[in-house]
Amino acid sequence: MTDRKRLPLSEFPRGQVRIAPSILSADYARFGQHLAEVSEAGADIIHVDIMDGHFVPNISFGPAVVKAIRKYSDKPFDVHLMITDPGKYLDTFVKAGADHITIHVESDGDLHEVISRIHASGCSAGITLRPGTPVEALMPYFDEVEMFLVMTVEPGFGGQSFMADQMPKVEYLRKAIDASGRNIHLEVDGGINAATAPQAIAAGAEVLVAGSSVFGYPEGLAAGITALRP
Ligand code: DX5
Ligand code: ZN
Repeated sequence: MTDRKRLPLSEFPRGQVRIAPSILSADYARFGQHLAEVSEAGADIIHVDIMDGHFVPNISFGPAVVKAIRKYSDKPFDVHLMITDPGKYLDTFVKAGADHITIHVESDGDLHEVISRIHASGCSAGITLRPGTPVEALMPYFDEVEMFLVMTVEPGFGGQSFMADQMPKVEYLRKAIDASGRNIHLEVDGGINAATAPQAIAAGAEVLVAGSSVFGYPEGLAAGITALRP
């Protein structure tokens, strides 16, 4: 897939629920194959969790791995950078085949500059926050990004419980996005399963990230994805 066209999320209209399986929960011993399977099972977007062991207390995988698995799926790669210095590693993830890159508002550096570099690379840009960070921290980036991500667990690990107390942030951002008329996607990440997805959708989320509930679904990947759709 060397001549693959980049698919920034700005090319996808909002107003529809999209399921983004997190490959953090895939089987790394057959990573490419598992990615192909979840793509064919109906994933709209592939969520790629990057953890540096510093910003969060866990290490996932780096750009060489992202590059190696890129050819197993033609779906957009939504890269969630849980790293201290996103500006330093941005270009390697762009080269590895990212379509969209989300950075944390708590990370280091001039984030306005990082966002403009994301755009210059041809990717769409998102910004996110830890559960303990107030939603107002995202507003300086409102006119710059194509996605807001509300974390519904403390970032770092898959398989944690959904934090319903983050729903007011989703409601707040939904109102602000609708009032602006801008094509900004609103994503939730963490603890999303068939029981919690309706709460997130009711609050206004449209892109649902789900790792353990999709990859661990007893009836398989396609059923696990379908179970999240409204
Ligand atoms: C958490 C990651 C999530 C994680 C979600 O730090 O950002 O994307 O993979 O996993 P589940 O769906 O299992 O909570
Ligand atoms: Zn994530």
